[in-house]
Amino acid sequence: MSNVLRLAIVDPVDASRDALKATLLGMDMVWLEAECSRYEFFADVVGQTKPDIGIISLNQNPEKALQLVAQLRESSADCSIVVVSSSTDGNLILRAMRAGVKEFLPQPVRIEDLVAALQRIGNQRAGSGDSKSRGSTVIAVAGATGGVGTTSLAVNLGCILAANAENSVALIDIDLCLGDADVFLDTIPDYTLVDVAQNVTRLDFTLLKRSLTKHASGLYLLPRPVQLEDMALIKPDDLRRVIGLLKATFTHLIVDLSKGFSAIDMVAMEMANHVLVVTQLDLPCLRNVVRLMMSFGQMDSIKDNLKIIVNRVGLDNHIGLKKAQETIGREIYWQLPNDYRVMVEVRNNGVPLIEQAPKAAITQSMIALAERLDGRSDGQTLPEDAGKSTVVKLLNLRPGRAKAASK
Ligand SMILES: Nc1ncnc2c1ncn2[C@@H]1O[C@H](COP(=O)(O)OP(=O)(O)OP(=O)(O)O)[C@@H](O)[C@H]1O
Ligand SMILES: [Mg+2]
Repeated sequence: MSNVLRLAIVDPVDASRDALKATLLGMDMVWLEAECSRYEFFADVVGQTKPDIGIISLNQNPEKALQLVAQLRESSADCSIVVVSSSTDGNLILRAMRAGVKEFLPQPVRIEDLVAALQRIGNQRAGSGDSKSRGSTVIAVAGATGGVGTTSLAVNLGCILAANAENSVALIDIDLCLGDADVFLDTIPDYTLVDVAQNVTRLDFTLLKRSLTKHASGLYLLPRPVQLEDMALIKPDDLRRVIGLLKATFTHLIVDLSKGFSAIDMVAMEMANHVLVVTQLDLPCLRNVVRLMMSFGQMDSIKDNLKIIVNRVGLDNHIGLKKAQETIGREIYWQLPNDYRVMVEVRNNGVPLIEQAPKAAITQSMIALAERLDGRSDGQTLPEDAGKSTVVKLLNLRPGRAKAASK
């Protein structure tokens, strides 16, 4: 429960209190500790239940409500106050802010505004200005070229994380054109990212969860649109809202990126705590990793979260890991072994690794990767493989010499 914000609400109007309660109850990031229908009793309720956040509706009696805010600042200084009001009178907002409220939300409360406000307060309470530091972990999975194993990793990591009863995990497939996460999970979803993106301001959490397809592993899937022409309907801001909303209800969000590094892909990377760049140890892939690192390494919102994942380690005629690491100039965060037979089986059967081959080295490696991403284990050591590398002038891959290397 450490990531959950404990809330108490007071609103003398039953209908609006029930509406607010219904919204809050669907959010996994909050726990409704108490509700109250009288301003007079709320200070005692807060004193006894000690919630992180008190939500006060100003509607029925703004004067009484603002007195209550001032009283709570004195008696329960640790409780952050949010007020909701159907009035947008500037004077009232100013008085509320001066009385010490953290957030002022217009009623009817838009779910996105509520999520954003609670996340801001959560971050402040966690003692950090970093909006990525609390609650949900977003993992964006990108690939250095086509077919490197991006979707295999995204889907299986999602199923592995979902196997832990403490987690709730969703996978968003933003390979809008050719994404195939639904095939890996052998599901035919009712709704896609287009439906959710277009209705994001109208959805409540119950509807949102119903729009996702739940796989037997526990993983929720939001797939790419069915029709190619629907791709254009998804704008970067829509995805930003969808991720923001899903963050309030899932402990982990995995995003399977396209290889186009479009504006949509960039949104996912900017919002991610971990940006996994999957590569294999061949020349075209490593050259792309160097290029991607050059570009992303200059983007403040991404550069510190980049993690290189080498897939299919052990394939013949591949470049040695140490040489690859030297060339990229960054730590190789994780290596996943090559296992063609098992990977073809899971793909053809539409069954995740933990179900099809729980003991296989590739599955165990992904389990350990999930633990590392969650901060529950350390890294791997690189094998002594310097002599194994194929004869490739790797140093030519460094910036400025890429042209020579590509010949
Ligand atoms: N560790 C592995 N060992 C052996 N085969 C693998 C491994 N990882 C992935 N593969 C295989 O590589 C192929 C491509 O994998 P996948 O579809 O996950 O890649 P991708 O990067 O998502 O591709 P795309 O560019 O089409 O999105 C699949 O056939 C998969 O079974
Ligand atoms: Mg893919």
